Amino acid sequence: MRQHVNPLSKYFQEIESIPKIEQIFKNSGLPTHLDIGCASGEFLFQLAEKNKNWNYLGIEIREKLIINAKNKLKEQSIDNLYFIFGNADNLLKNWIVQYPDRILKSASINFPDPWFKKKHHKRRILQAEFLNRLALIMSNQSLLFIKSDVEELYQYMNSLISNTLIFEKVKNKNLNCLETFNPSKIKTEREKYAISKQLPIFQAVYKKIINL
Ligand SMILES: C[S@@+](CC[C@H](N)C(=O)[O-])C[C@H]1O[C@@H](n2cnc3c(N)ncnc32)[C@H](O)[C@@H]1O
Repeated sequence: MRQHVNPLSKYFQEIESIPKIEQIFKNSGLPTHLDIGCASGEFLFQLAEKNKNWNYLGIEIREKLIINAKNKLKEQSIDNLYFIFGNADNLLKNWIVQYPDRILKSASINFPDPWFKKKHHKRRILQAEFLNRLALIMSNQSLLFIKSDVEELYQYMNSLISNTLIFEKVKNKNLNCLETFNPSKIKTEREKYAISKQLPIFQAVYKKIINL
């Protein structure tokens, strides 16, 4: 079992600087999707290859995974995908100061680390302040997708997002059809594992309803 990375450790205070979106993607006018905690980036590689009419950004705190993903990206000529290493919270703090544009059409937090112990809940990626920062880079009416195979974590994320007033839960029986960034319904690595082990998958979609 892999050791979880403590996002509050001093090491992650130093962050990679993110270039301007125009320097990242060949066509910066395309809709952009951000996947937070993208691990090896396999999900994003598949998305970027299949959907040339979208740009994809991945953030991941495990440095080795991002080094490998960046190397793989260099070997292949994919111009609609970019990876950023670091603690997502610190990256967003910097991002909103550098680039005030609301560039994201959608974002996903797929199967985040649960940090089960109460004293470790502060290490969870989704915190009220993080959500406010994320909202600042999301365009109006953009969508936020969450998935987890841990019901307690799902409930935690759901109540946090539902309590903000910035987002409204989308009441749609078929949530998958809202994944315009993922028309082929590609699964993340953890999602494939959860399906193979017949674990329940809890998911929700929220629309940004306040223009910040
Ligand atoms: C359980 S894995 C899920 C990976 C992938 N989203 C999936 O569904 O297969 C959670 C990922 O989030 C990353 N992560 C955890 N905290 C993070 C943070 N604060 N910033 C960026 N990534 C983080 C972990 O290193 C790990 O790769």
